[in-house]
Amino acid sequence: MTMGMKLASFVFMLTIVLLEPKLNVHGQSISIPKLILNYMFPKDPHIVRVRKPEDIRTTINNVTTLNFFGMVEKYGYTAEEHYVTTEDGYNLVIHRITGSPLFKGQQTGKVVFLQTGLFGTSDCWVLIGAGKDLAFLLADKGYDVWLGNVRGSSYCRSHVKLSPRNKEFWQFSYHEVGIIDLPAMIDYVLDYTKQKNLHFVGISMGTTVLFTLLSIKPEYNAKIKLAVCLAPIAFWTEVSPMMQSGINMVRSITNLQEILDFTEIFEVLPLTSTNIMLGRTLCADNTITQVICVASVFLASGANPSQLNTTLFPEILSNYPAGSSVQTLFHYNQNIITKKFQAYDYGYIGNYKHYKQATPITYDVEKITAPVAIFYGGNDLLALKSTVFELYKRLPNVVLLEEQKSFTHLDFIIAINVNTLVYSRVIELFQEFDNKA
Ligand SMILES: *[C@@H]1O[C@H](CO)[C@@H](O)[C@H](O)[C@H]1NC(C)=O
Ligand SMILES: *[C@@H]1O[C@H](CO)[C@@H](O)[C@H](O)[C@H]1NC(C)=O
Repeated sequence: MTMGMKLASFVFMLTIVLLEPKLNVHGQSISIPKLILNYMFPKDPHIVRVRKPEDIRTTINNVTTLNFFGMVEKYGYTAEEHYVTTEDGYNLVIHRITGSPLFKGQQTGKVVFLQTGLFGTSDCWVLIGAGKDLAFLLADKGYDVWLGNVRGSSYCRSHVKLSPRNKEFWQFSYHEVGIIDLPAMIDYVLDYTKQKNLHFVGISMGTTVLFTLLSIKPEYNAKIKLAVCLAPIAFWTEVSPMMQSGINMVRSITNLQEILDFTEIFEVLPLTSTNIMLGRTLCADNTITQVICVASVFLASGANPSQLNTTLFPEILSNYPAGSSVQTLFHYNQNIITKKFQAYDYGYIGNYKHYKQATPITYDVEKITAPVAIFYGGNDLLALKSTVFELYKRLPNVVLLEEQKSFTHLDFIIAINVNTLVYSRVIELFQEFDNKA
């Protein structure tokens, strides 16, 4: 463990010890383990989104948060919302930035499609503001910026037949997102814009789903002009000690999957009014509890204190995490245990039903012929360097592999200098590719 990590664990433990047994949240006292469980599996997946910053509220019984329109209009950009229904009935929302106050010329018409990671939505690409977030910077250069949202996230809790209260609604992982949601969105965008191909940017699970798509449906390689993969996740040849202890903890609870199933918990970390309120109250500057928020981020993603702007916590937690299926986590867990990049394992009978074979389908990344640029963090606890190299070794068409030494997993979205360190490089790459074409 690095110094930063030791410090983070220490602060985390210390805070829990000092604040035990009770934390006071709006006059209610709650124990920390209970708080964490309620945060992960809340019972009120309800949020009110508003479009104007002056309508944001954080009072009991009235918590509101900005929607995507509000987040971009705040900085003078314009946006659109598009709707796609997948072949299996999920209603997806795609966002698009149509104009930047800094770009006056003729739009290039060149499309960039941004796909966020686990528990994320299109909001994650516009969290920090103009001049900082990749989506804004691309729009400033005249790119046609589209932002994907996948089944189960706060913008896509809708289905033609199923309700999010149904178990069936949540029976998916990055397999379905990769082979159904992503191609449905890409086809919609190409069709709507009358383009043949697009630039893709994915972070974390946003890369996992791209690798899944391009290996299972290799015909999609031709639709990707350049794929930029930030903190990519595919092979789990190694996991960090912190992650290993998490996995061991999960493994020590026998039948966890059955317990969750029995208690009808199919969804994890949705965006809810309560969670937004907790984030705004407990993680704000000048609160004694903010250290817990900092330590949790360091433990989950890696520690890079000089790139973390703690002032942003309440805003980030007003839009993230925004939910996914429990099955997605179990899918990652399976891949970690088997060290294989493959589809979800339903067991012998289930696998026959889903894949027409006894074992899960393997994602054959050798089939990914689209050009790929990889940016990874030297301090990332999830996409470890060795796992990124494993991916790099197998991908046939990597045009760039670049390390940001101090970067953690989340830094590719929230680091103070991510715009100058990474995003400006990404835009250069796109321009280079566009000029070649
Ligand atoms: C909550 O706040 C919104 C935004 O200002 C307001 O329109 C609404 O009437 C409020 N609702 C309640 C129940 O107070
Ligand atoms: C941190 O975020 C706040 C709120 O957006 C901003 O005013 C401040 O300039 C940021 N600090 C740095 C170092 O970027």
